[in-house]
Amino acid sequence: RSINGQLEVRLEAAPGQLLLAGRQAAALGYNGGIPGPTLRLRAGDVLKIGLVNKLLQTTNLHVHGLHVSPEGNGDNVFVAVDPGGTFDYAYELPEDHPPGVYWYHPHHHGMVADQIFAGLFGAIIVEDPEPIEVSAERVLVISDTTLDGMGNIPEVPEMDRMMGREGELILVNGQSNPHISARPGQRERWRIINTCVSRYLRLRLDGQQLQLLGMDSGRFPTPRTVNELLLTPGNRADLLVTTTTGDSTLLALYQNRRTMPGMVGSGAGARNPADQSDSTALATLRVAGEPAAAPRAVPAQQGPADLRSAPVAARRQIVLATGMGMGMGGGMMRFTINGREFDEARTDTTVAAGGVEEWTLINTSPMDHPFHLHVWPMQIIEEDGAGTNAALWQDVVNVPANGRVRVRVAFKDFRGRSAYHCHILDHEDLGMMAAIEVR
Ligand code: C2O
Ligand code: CU
Ligand code: CU
Repeated sequence: RSINGQLEVRLEAAPGQLLLAGRQAAALGYNGGIPGPTLRLRAGDVLKIGLVNKLLQTTNLHVHGLHVSPEGNGDNVFVAVDPGGTFDYAYELPEDHPPGVYWYHPHHHGMVADQIFAGLFGAIIVEDPEPIEVSAERVLVISDTTLDGMGNIPEVPEMDRMMGREGELILVNGQSNPHISARPGQRERWRIINTCVSRYLRLRLDGQQLQLLGMDSGRFPTPRTVNELLLTPGNRADLLVTTTTGDSTLLALYQNRRTMPGMVGSGAGARNPADQSDSTALATLRVAGEPAAAPRAVPAQQGPADLRSAPVAARRQIVLATGMGMGMGGGMMRFTINGREFDEARTDTTVAAGGVEEWTLINTSPMDHPFHLHVWPMQIIEEDGAGTNAALWQDVVNVPANGRVRVRVAFKDFRGRSAYHCHILDHEDLGMMAAIEVR
C-alpha cells in the first residue's frame, strides 16, 4: 500500500519449492509466493520496483494496463535483466489515472509464456477516488498451469505453443477451489484477473447478484448487472457481488476459443468442441448467517474520455495473421502482425503525439487473438460490423478468427516506445508483437 504518494517494493523473482494447488511444486515466484504481493496505489502515486533476478534465465517486469510513461526505460519490453541482475523501475501515475485492476508479469520476448505459466504474476490495484462501501474486498488472481506427479511443470510441446497452451489446473491465488464465506445481504468486491497464458475464462457465479463496475481501466457510469463474464488472457473485471444465502460455485465454463480447425494435440486444440459440458469449479462461496445491513449506494463512476465522437487524427490497419513458414525442424507456423514477426530493433508504428487514432484490428487467421496495446487504453467502437452502444474500454480486446474490431486510442500525453501484441503469450513469444513509438 502506498504511503505519502509513494510505494517502494522489492520483487525477487526466484525458483523454489512453492505452494501451488495445495502441494509443493518446483515453480517460480515473486518473493516466494504465487501470486506475488498485491500492490495498492492511488492516482498521482510514484511506484518504485526493485526487480531482483534470481532465476537462471533472463527476465524483466511489465506493469500491465497502467497508464504510465514508456519514455526511457519505462517500457520494460525492451529491458533485459540477466540472471543475478537487478533493475530499478520507477513509474509515475498521472493524477487522473483510472482506478481499477491491473497486474504485473515478466515480458522478456520468447520467455513470457513459460515464466508466467511457472508462477510469475501479481495484482496491482489503483484505488477509487471515492470509496465504494463493501464488506469485503477480494483479489482473485486466476492462473493455469500443469504439474506432473513430481510437482514439476512439464515441458510444453511445440504444438501446444502454436495453439496457445492451456494448463490442466485452473487456480485462484495459486489454490484449487478455495472456499470463501460471507453473510447474506453483503456487498463484496471481487477484483478478478485472468493471468492465464492462453485460456479464455467464461465465468459464472450463479445464485448471487453480480454487477460489473468496469473492465480493465474502463468504468461504467453505473454498475452493470451481468450473469456471465468473458475474460480473455490479460483482462480484468472489477465486480460487485451482493450475497444471497446458499452455496455458489465460481465456474469457468467451456469457452470455444477458436484455434485451428481439425487440429489434434494435447492442449487447447485437442478439445472436442462438441463437448460443451466441461466446466471447472474455481472457488466456492458459502453464504450463511444473519443478514448484513444494506450497503450504501455505489457512487457514480467516470471512465476515460469517450472517443466515439472525437476527431480522428489517423487511421491504421493492424493485421494479425498466421501462416506456414520454415523452421529449423521443417514446417512451422508463423505468427505475424502486418506481415512481420517481432524485431525489437524495428519500430513498426510511429504515432504523432496529441491525437486520437482509429485502429482496425483485422484477424485473417482461423484462430482468435486477444490484442493488447501497452500504456494506452483502447475504446471499442465496432465489433464485427456492429457498433457498440456503450462506452467500453479495454486494454486486451478479442479479435475473433477471420473477424475485425475497430478501436480508438487517445495518444494525448506520453511519448516513448512501447509494444502491442497478442496476449496469447505463446503467440507473442512466437513473434506476434510489434513496437510502437509515439513522438
Ligand atoms: Cu500483459 Cu505486453 O502484456
Ligand atoms: Cu501490457
Ligand atoms: Cu494469438
